[in-house]
Amino acid sequence: MSRRLPTELLTLIVGLTPADALYALRSANRTLRALATPGAFRAVRCTGTVKSTAGMLNVLASELREHVEEVHYRDWYATEESDTIDLSPEQEDEELIRINLNSALALLHTLPSLHTLSLTFAPTYDETLHADFEPNDPSASLELQFSTFETLAKLTPAPALRTFVLENLTPFPHPIDADPRFLGIMRDLRELTITTASDLTLEGAIFQDPITAFFTATFPPVLEAPQHTLTSLTLFFDQNIGAVPGLALGRLHYPHLERLALTRVLFDQETGVEAFITAHAATLQCLELMLCKISMPESTAVPLRTWAQIYGAFSERLENLTELEVMDDTEKREEEGAEEYGVLLKRRPIRYVAWDSGWGWGAWFAEEQEFSEDGDGGEGEGEDSGAGSGVFRITLAVQAVAGDEDALDALIKVVRQRAISHTEATY
Ligand SMILES: *[C@@H]1O[C@H](CO)[C@@H](O)[C@H](O)[C@H]1NC(C)=O
Ligand SMILES: *[C@@H]1O[C@H](CO)[C@@H](O)[C@H](O)[C@H]1NC(C)=O
Repeated sequence: MSRRLPTELLTLIVGLTPADALYALRSANRTLRALATPGAFRAVRCTGTVKSTAGMLNVLASELREHVEEVHYRDWYATEESDTIDLSPEQEDEELIRINLNSALALLHTLPSLHTLSLTFAPTYDETLHADFEPNDPSASLELQFSTFETLAKLTPAPALRTFVLENLTPFPHPIDADPRFLGIMRDLRELTITTASDLTLEGAIFQDPITAFFTATFPPVLEAPQHTLTSLTLFFDQNIGAVPGLALGRLHYPHLERLALTRVLFDQETGVEAFITAHAATLQCLELMLCKISMPESTAVPLRTWAQIYGAFSERLENLTELEVMDDTEKREEEGAEEYGVLLKRRPIRYVAWDSGWGWGAWFAEEQEFSEDGDGGEGEGEDSGAGSGVFRITLAVQAVAGDEDALDALIKVVRQRAISHTEATY
């Protein structure tokens, strides 16, 4: 007697089974194979090893490609395994990995259901400068990035992606990003996520040059390409991006933008972030500001605008915002001498930074602002700790800082209230 489950029931079970288990189910019998296959190959994930990239190439080159909706590549050093397991020399064959990956990506336009592409590169910045401060040849990791962009630019017809994730992008100038054929894959994008991996130890303007060139030349066309369709934009930078290197968000408009997440984007006149956000009041529902700071022109002791003013404007203008997350940057004082500082062991929110020309950004700590209170409630004195020390500190009256907190609380309250009335309206 056979104990057959009706196909409807099997379909239901298969629909609830995670992808990993679907591979196993496929080998049970022919019925299950047919039922489990689409789900098993809906998302194809590979890591940067010879075996894994070859596996992805095999799938994309086979009939299974009709099921593939998502393609994910993750560099080996961006995986959790890389902490504990070493790659064998054979797996580490960079040349072969690059060939496999690009051969697979070259097939993307043959996948009838593809809507998501995610490329996670190595989480390191390996670019170096010559003695004359000209960039050396690109590292192997950057070569790989460039080669994938070139492959994507050649796809004909360009696949109409809905979701594009580029993680650990090396901020280094490359003309391919401005190639209309590369930008072609972004014309129907709904969701765009870009994160960068730079080297935070490379302080000083000279090392910033390639990064600046990336943000002023390479990056803008990438943000412009999907303007008409985008609903969700996530920009995660691993260092403060603002006036230097410049990032001109103010010129962009996404008529359908519902969700915006920014990490380490500096608010100032040049980035025009505040104006960019309020210009999307009609559609914006969800806003995340992580580790964002206000930048000040150097040698000016007061910012042109405080957080209190920005949060106030958001409360008033962002009528359709129902989700808000704000996270401050904080300075940890756990290194040597921490005991001596005593009070500095407390959380030190950094909400303002100033540019020290020839060096880089210096933090502006809230607590220093408190220390500088000068009784009359006016602005504190600017204090430069000295040329070459690398620390540039500016003080601000405590009132402004307290005002920032209150304005944020008020904004959170407004957004919560709106979320509640929005939910009530829908029921
Ligand atoms: C395949 O295996 C499943 C699970 O054991 C079973 O319910 C189903 O009836 C089988 N189908 C065939 C055709 O044997
Ligand atoms: C909020 O959304 C509604 C409905 O889409 C729209 O009519 C309204 O103008 C929006 N609010 C703002 C400030 O644009």
